[in-house]
Amino acid sequence: MAFPQTRLRRLRKTGALRDLVRETELRPHHLVQPLFVALAQDRPREPIDAMPGIDRLSISAAADEARQLHDLGLPAVLLFGLPAEKDEEGSGAWDDEGVVQLATRAIKDACPDLLVIADVCLCEYTSHGHCGLLRSDGTVDNDATVELLARTAISQARAGADMVAPSDMMDGRVGAIRSELDADGLTDTAIVAYSAKMASAFYGPFREAADSTPSFGDRRAYQMDGANPDEAVREALLDRDEGADILMVKPALPYLDVVRRVKDATRMPVAAYNVSGEYAMLKAAAAAGYLDERAAALEALTSIRRAGADIVFSYHAKDAAAWLQ
Ligand code: PBG
Repeated sequence: MAFPQTRLRRLRKTGALRDLVRETELRPHHLVQPLFVALAQDRPREPIDAMPGIDRLSISAAADEARQLHDLGLPAVLLFGLPAEKDEEGSGAWDDEGVVQLATRAIKDACPDLLVIADVCLCEYTSHGHCGLLRSDGTVDNDATVELLARTAISQARAGADMVAPSDMMDGRVGAIRSELDADGLTDTAIVAYSAKMASAFYGPFREAADSTPSFGDRRAYQMDGANPDEAVREALLDRDEGADILMVKPALPYLDVVRRVKDATRMPVAAYNVSGEYAMLKAAAAAGYLDERAAALEALTSIRRAGADIVFSYHAKDAAAWLQ
């Protein structure tokens, strides 16, 4: 018998053959673009230093951007808001005339078919930058925060958000948000739960973008220890049982094993968030001439899909959609 009988290289020829046997697809409809919308800014677009290519948008610039993203085949945007003023409680989050509520209405008017996912958290709205209500000892009060998060989600859903995405990591918030939405007749509003959100160094550029760096301490008392994949699966199962429609793992690239385990344990729709630091690393390497941005970004996004993510939230979504046309 001639050696080798099996030649895996037979199917690797560039073109139709290679396409025919590709196991993982990456298409624009798998991608979601996060947008930063700001109420009090002079210009329609303000660049974010650590995230080249991503701007803070005024409400009308966000509506324009949404139309372009929809034309590129993206199904959804994720909205983060920067209020005109912050306070101790983060009351801008549940203001019916707040930044995310206004942006949601403007985007749904401009582009009704594009899904709006509203991020539910208080850290962009609190003067201290923590994700919830502080007790006098400086710790975050879980149960009091959950009430404010539910109030925020209702206000966003009433403004027209198709989905709400709690990213705060308080215990019990998915169940509370689900019951409050249902009690308000908002039974079709879906919940994308940031189930396994790690305390991560990769959120740095986001905190510049959203002006949400905690003024003291860190988020380790509520965000997960990245070393704990079993706990990540428990978080995912709890969120599923509390009524989450989609489960998210965040960040993505340093946690691909967690994406796979959550997918296998739940068989639910799973999202992974390719976060600001992952984007910034690639941008910096590309700017220095060390990496081919397009090839590296498409490879990274494909690897997140391969790990088991049905949906990838990424700052590269818009570029990737254009590259994939
Ligand atoms: C807020 C929130 C954060 C991100 C999404 N929602 C930051 C944080 O927890 O500090 C990070 C997203 C990114 O880095 O792209 N709770």
